[in-house]
Amino acid sequence: CGKDDGPMPEDEFLVIAHRGASAYVPENTLASYELAKDLDSDYIELDIHLTKDGELVVMHDQDVESTMNASGKISEFTLDELKKLSKTSRYKDDKGMAAKGHAEMYAVPALREVFDQFGDRMNFIIELKNPEDYPGIEEKLMELLEAADMIGADGDGHPKAVIQSFSEEGLEKIHALNPKIPLLRLISFEDGEEAQLTAEEIEKLQTYAAGIGVSYEALTEPFISYMQQEGLVVYAYTVNDQETALTMKNLGANGIHTDRPDILEK
Ligand code: G3P
Ligand code: CA
Repeated sequence: CGKDDGPMPEDEFLVIAHRGASAYVPENTLASYELAKDLDSDYIELDIHLTKDGELVVMHDQDVESTMNASGKISEFTLDELKKLSKTSRYKDDKGMAAKGHAEMYAVPALREVFDQFGDRMNFIIELKNPEDYPGIEEKLMELLEAADMIGADGDGHPKAVIQSFSEEGLEKIHALNPKIPLLRLISFEDGEEAQLTAEEIEKLQTYAAGIGVSYEALTEPFISYMQQEGLVVYAYTVNDQETALTMKNLGANGIHTDRPDILEK
């Protein structure tokens, strides 16, 4: 069952750097992960897709418009093409850093490069984006996690790699490949709706997941504590102001996804 498979810490409040320290440098870049590390984030969250040449690559959107001067889907480009495009356009959202000579750090990273650079010093929450559009992505991810020695716990007992997704099917495939990897199911609720799950939905989650990720607006104290009693940790996304971060902590959430991993420091 999910909760025994590689426990997420139940008694710590995790600060998860959402797409890296993405409030300060372009999201999902080596630069944003470096800053997330410097700001002592507990985990780095990132989003993965498959390129035309079968590389696991880190970007949020499935198409390239929002981050490059180009159009089309990630799956229509090779990793090299994406790297050239992202370096020359230096990310539309460059926040002034590319001009200071850091463009190399902004090239779209392959997931293996992220693990090469950070695997021995950071832990990751890896989001499978649109896995239904990338047949075989689950197997590729598992192969890479094994090759990069990212399966299992770090010296503090925290899982080095956790996988999350809105796709139940994608998570179930991962669970079938290796039931020891902690999985988080992302669940969205309608605007203004409080989080709630039926007993049947919770039972289903318990067959493969260690916990859930829910938009902070939907979270309530009774819901969080009910999930925890059922053995499921609860992370709130995406919290970018300190007051809300403290509210989530007080409600008993197990952590927050934030673009500002220094959110609790001031
Ligand atoms: O970590 C939760 C969050 O990442 C899900 O939303 O769109 O930022 O990937 P999104
Ligand atoms: Ca994400």
